[in-house]
Amino acid sequence: MSRSDRARAGAGEGGGIGLEADRALVEAARAAMALAYAPYSGYHVGAALRTESGEVISAANVENASYGLTICAERAAVAAAVAAGHRRFEAVAVAADGPEPASACGACRQVLREFPPGPGLRVLLAGESGDEFVVTTLEELLPSSFGPERLERGPGWRP
Ligand code: THU
Repeated sequence: MSRSDRARAGAGEGGGIGLEADRALVEAARAAMALAYAPYSGYHVGAALRTESGEVISAANVENASYGLTICAERAAVAAAVAAGHRRFEAVAVAADGPEPASACGACRQVLREFPPGPGLRVLLAGESGDEFVVTTLEELLPSSFGPERLERGPGWRP
């Protein structure tokens, strides 16, 4: 099996609770796209995180007239999740305009790397239709990554 599989999310194919949960997460990301504030790029992105406790927290990109202050959907979702008390995740879905699967930018990959499971995070990348999505991992998108364990402060320390 290749490390990056293109999942077909059509009815009756694949089956199983895992695929259903993935599809639901992709749908949450697609729904969040509709809330994007993207008057400058016109590029709408939605991201949805599934927490370890099974909650789904989503967000969209928020642009700014001072372009560099734009916040990507993935980082907005991480901030919302942490603000709601979540620091452990199972998966993230990203959906964006266009037929091709979305791709998380480098900065967002690093921010997603911060919280457990870090490199093992399941990543779902969808285009605007959501019918098909790529299933991959953060490790594949951000190999040899730098994370909080490098800054170990001593016994009992946790990020
Ligand atoms: N964008 C995201 O929200 N996530 C990414 O991973 C890549 C880029 C947004 C930022 C900006 O609002 C628009 O897409 C164009 O770059």
